[in-house]
Amino acid sequence: MKNSKLFEPISIGDLRLNNRIAMAPMTRGRAGEERVPNNLMAEYYFQRSGAGLLITEATVISKQGIGWIGSPGIYTDEMVEGWKKITEKIKPTGTPIFLQLWHCGRVSHSDFHEGNLPVSASAVKLNGDHIHTPFGAKPYETPRQMSIDEIKTTVSDYRKAAENARAAGFSGVEIHGANGYLINQFLDATTNQRNDQYGGSLENRFRFFKEVLEAILEVWPSNRVGVRISPNGVFNDMGCDDYRELYLFVANEINKLTLGYLHIMDGLAFGFHGKGEPMSLSEFRNVFQGIIIGNCGYTKESAQERIAEGNADIIAIGRPFITNPDLPERFRNNWPLNPSEDMSLWYTPGSEGYTNYEPYKP
Ligand SMILES: Cc1cc2nc3c(=O)[nH]c(=O)nc-3n(C[C@H](O)[C@H](O)[C@H](O)COP(=O)(O)O)c2cc1C
Repeated sequence: MKNSKLFEPISIGDLRLNNRIAMAPMTRGRAGEERVPNNLMAEYYFQRSGAGLLITEATVISKQGIGWIGSPGIYTDEMVEGWKKITEKIKPTGTPIFLQLWHCGRVSHSDFHEGNLPVSASAVKLNGDHIHTPFGAKPYETPRQMSIDEIKTTVSDYRKAAENARAAGFSGVEIHGANGYLINQFLDATTNQRNDQYGGSLENRFRFFKEVLEAILEVWPSNRVGVRISPNGVFNDMGCDDYRELYLFVANEINKLTLGYLHIMDGLAFGFHGKGEPMSLSEFRNVFQGIIIGNCGYTKESAQERIAEGNADIIAIGRPFITNPDLPERFRNNWPLNPSEDMSLWYTPGSEGYTNYEPYKP
C-alpha cells in the first residue's frame, strides 16, 4: 500500500514514537526464581527497540499476583534496580517503553503461594488442562474469593508497582486488563459472581479496574498510562454473554480518563469465545477518542489497512517480534521474515530462542 502511515511517527501525549508498530507484551520467563530483570532481558528489549513503542512482558505487582515461572516482578528494590538497567539501555534509542502491570488472580496455584490458594473475584475454577508450577504441571484449583480488604490492599499494590515503575525509569505503564487475569476476572460475569459493590452491574464489575486506574493516575500523568483489554478472547477460559455491552461500557469509562492509549486484542488469532459476533476496532472507535492500538494476528498489510481505515492508530505485533528483532525494518524494506510458529523456546531459560535471532542482512 502506498502512503502508509505505519512508518510515520505518532505522539502519545508528550511521547514521540518513530513508527506505529508496537511490540506486544510477551511473557518470556527469563527472570529466574527471584523474578529480578537481568542483562539478558536488557539485550532482548534493546534488540527490538526499532519498534515505535516497546511494551514489556507482564510483570507481577506483588507476590500474590504471581502465576508464571520466571516472570519478572516490580515489587522489591532489586526488581526496580534490575528494570533500571533495561530502561537505561533503551533510553539512548529514544523508544518509549511501557511496563505491563499484572496480577494473575486465579490463573495461579497454591504451589506459588506456600500452599495458600490463589485469589479471584469469585471462587470459580478455570476450566483448563493444567498449570505449570515450580513443582510440575498441576490441575487448576478453585480460587478463594477476595475480601473487600484484600481488594483495597491489591489496589495499593498496583499503586506501589506504578511508583516503582517510575523509579525504574519507564516511560509509562500498561494495565493488563486482558487474557483472563485478575482484572479480567472482575470484568467478566462468568468469573465474577459477587453480590457486593464489586459484582452484578457493569458499573460494579468495572469498579476494581476503575480503582486500580485511579490509584495509578495518582502516580502517573494520564497520557503515560495505557490499558489492555481482550473483548473477544477465550484464553484462560474467558467470555461472558454480555461482552459487547461490557466492553463498550469499559471503553466509554476509560475514555473519560484521557489515557495514553487503549490496547484492544481485536484479532482472533488466539481464538474467540464464540458468544456472538466478534467485536471490531470500529465499534471502539465510536466511543473512544484517544489512541487505539490493535493486536492479534496482524501482518504488515493488515496493519496498514487498519490504520488507513482510521480504526487503529498503532498496531502491536507479538510473535513475529520474537524471531525478527528488526521487524519494523523488515516490514519497511519488504525483507523476508523468519517463521514464528515454533513455541518450544518461548518460555525456556537462557538466550536460545530469545536473543540469538540476527537482524536481516540484505
Ligand atoms: C510467548 C507469548 C507471551 C505472551 N505474553 C503476554 C503477556 O505477558 N501479556 C499480554 O498481555 N499478552 C501476552 N501475549 C499475547 C501477545 O501480546 C499478543 O496478543 C499475541 O501474541 C497475538 O499477537 P500476534 O498475533 O502479533 O502474536 C503473549 C503471547 C505470546 C506468543
